[in-house]
Amino acid sequence: MSSNVRPESMERITTKALADAFIEEQIAEIKAQVGDKKVLLALSGGVDSSVVAALLIKAIGQNLVCVHVNHGLLRKGEPEQVIEVFKNQMNANLIYVDATDRFLDKLAGVDEPEKKRKIIGAEFIDVFAEEAAKLEGIEFLAQGTIYPDILESDGVKAHHNVGGLPEELNFELVEPIKLLYKDEVRVVGKELGLPDNMVYRQPFPGPGLGVRCVGAITRDRLDALREADAIVREEIEKLPETPWQYFCAIPDIKSTGIKYVNGKGERYMGWAVVIRAVNTTDAVKVTVPEIPFSALCAMRDKIVQIPGVNRVLWDISEKPVATIEWE
Ligand code: XMP
Repeated sequence: MSSNVRPESMERITTKALADAFIEEQIAEIKAQVGDKKVLLALSGGVDSSVVAALLIKAIGQNLVCVHVNHGLLRKGEPEQVIEVFKNQMNANLIYVDATDRFLDKLAGVDEPEKKRKIIGAEFIDVFAEEAAKLEGIEFLAQGTIYPDILESDGVKAHHNVGGLPEELNFELVEPIKLLYKDEVRVVGKELGLPDNMVYRQPFPGPGLGVRCVGAITRDRLDALREADAIVREEIEKLPETPWQYFCAIPDIKSTGIKYVNGKGERYMGWAVVIRAVNTTDAVKVTVPEIPFSALCAMRDKIVQIPGVNRVLWDISEKPVATIEWE
C-alpha cells in the first residue's frame, strides 16, 4: 500500500468481515515488503501504534522489535498494560525503556508550555534513536500514521505528538493503517484482539501528563496528578455514558487547607486538583457534559486522600474560550 490516496472504491471498514479482509491483505503486504528483515516500532500504547504492532506481530512475529519508552508522564497503569498485552499475551519482541529520570531531570524548573513540549519531543527522539542504534539489522520503521495525519499534516503523525518518528533515522517506512480513519482503526484493533480500553482509549497527548502538570513539573505534584487522574477515569467510567475526553490537571498553586491532629485544627498549604471532562466531535468546539453531583463527590472524596491535595475543582469552561488541555 504505497499510495497516500485512499481509493474511492475502498469500503469503510465497519464490520468484522471487512476488518478480517483488511488484516489478511495487510499481512500479505507486510510480508511482501519486509521479507525476513527486521522492523522497528515506537509503541506508545495508543490505539494507532498498538494496532500496527498487533498487525506486524501477526505478519512477522519476532522480526518486529517494539520499543516502549516510558517518559514518566504516562497515566497510571499504562506501561504495565503495554508489557502485559504485547509481551506477555502476544509474545512480542518488546524493549521497555524506563526513561523517567532522564525526562524529569531535563524538565526540572521548566515552566513554559512550549518549551516543555519541545524538551519531551526531543528527548523522546534521543531515547528512541539510542535504542535503535543498539540494534542490528533493522531496515524498516513501522509507524501508526492514519489517514487524517496524511490529510491534515502532510503525513506527519499529529504535529505535536511525541510518538513522531526520528527523521534522521534512515529506514524504509511500513505504514499499514495509513489509509484508515480512526473508527476503522478501532474496528481492526478489536478484531486483532486488543483490549477494549486500548481500542476505545480517549485521546491522550503525546507529552502526556506533562501538559496537565501545569508549570514546572515536580515529581510529587506529578504523582498526585497521576493518582487523581486514575480516580477520575475510574469514577467516570462507571457512568452510563462517558465523555469524549476526561482527565485531571494540577495547577502550580497552593491554597489553604485544614487538618485535625489530636482534635486540634492545623492549617497548611496544599494543591488543588481540577477535574476536566469534555464532549466534542473534532476537538475544535467543545462542550462540557453534566456529571452527576454524586459522581463528582465520589471523585472528591478519593482525591482529597492523595498526599498534598486539599481541594478539588470542576472545570466547566467550553472551547472556545478555554482549550481542552490546561497547557
Ligand atoms: P486543546 O488543548 O488544544 O487540545 O484544546 C485539543 C486536543 O489535542 C490534544 N492535545 C495534544 N495532543 N500532543 C498531542 O498529541 C499535544 O501536545 C497536545 N496538546 C493537546 C488534547 O488532548 C485534545 O484532545
